[in-house]
Amino acid sequence: YGDYNQKIDYVFKVVLIGDSAVGKTQLLARFSRNQFNVDSKATIGVEFQTKTLIIDNKTVKAQIWDTAGQERNWGCLELEDMMVPPGGVWVSNGAIDFNTATVVSACNFILASVAYWYRAVTSAYYRGAVGAMLVYDMTKRQSFDHMARWLEELRGHADANIVIMLIGNKCDLGTLRAVPTEDAQEFAQRENLFFMETSALESTNVETAFLTILTEIY
Ligand code: GTP
Repeated sequence: YGDYNQKIDYVFKVVLIGDSAVGKTQLLARFSRNQFNVDSKATIGVEFQTKTLIIDNKTVKAQIWDTAGQERNWGCLELEDMMVPPGGVWVSNGAIDFNTATVVSACNFILASVAYWYRAVTSAYYRGAVGAMLVYDMTKRQSFDHMARWLEELRGHADANIVIMLIGNKCDLGTLRAVPTEDAQEFAQRENLFFMETSALESTNVETAFLTILTEIY
């Protein structure tokens, strides 16, 4: 550790995905720095942390990427479906002196640009990833129900051999549980994912989850 001349045998990129506030940033903070921040702010853009580990006598540098769940949920909207059809739906009250065609093409241009930008950012995020952690909050059913959608995005952008682990975070809040372990196990089995319940707060299974995925990649 801390030796900059250390020889690195492998660099593994792992991405964290899932809805906003499920605990992606805190899982990463716990794994890379053994920290937990109670008033964690929503992630803006993309961040990554690295941690160097020894696996099987080889030096493995794990590069873990974290991104905002929020803006990316929004990205799941089919922007191109929102485009205004030619001859469109615009009603003019005469106050603005644009003709319909101008307004339609301006709206469509903006939507197309956002869709293009979103696709570029998404594919950059997944590019080169050999592992992914699909994180939900076990006290929020909706974050689990969205897993299928995140998985679809992941499979659409990532390498076919990517190792995927489903993570049910916040297991310290057992009394508020909204997702039974069996439901998640069943989903993981059906989709061929590894599965673990973790707590970034209490440090439960965090190290194990990352080590499992990194060893599996290796
Ligand atoms: P975005 O950046 O918006 O995508 O959110 P995120 O998934 O990175 O969530 P973040 O790590 O910022 O955590 C959201 C909230 O959940 C914060 O208030 C954390 O303190 C809390 N939290 C994260 N992990 C745990 C956990 O294991 N247990 C408990 N009780 N709270 C947690």
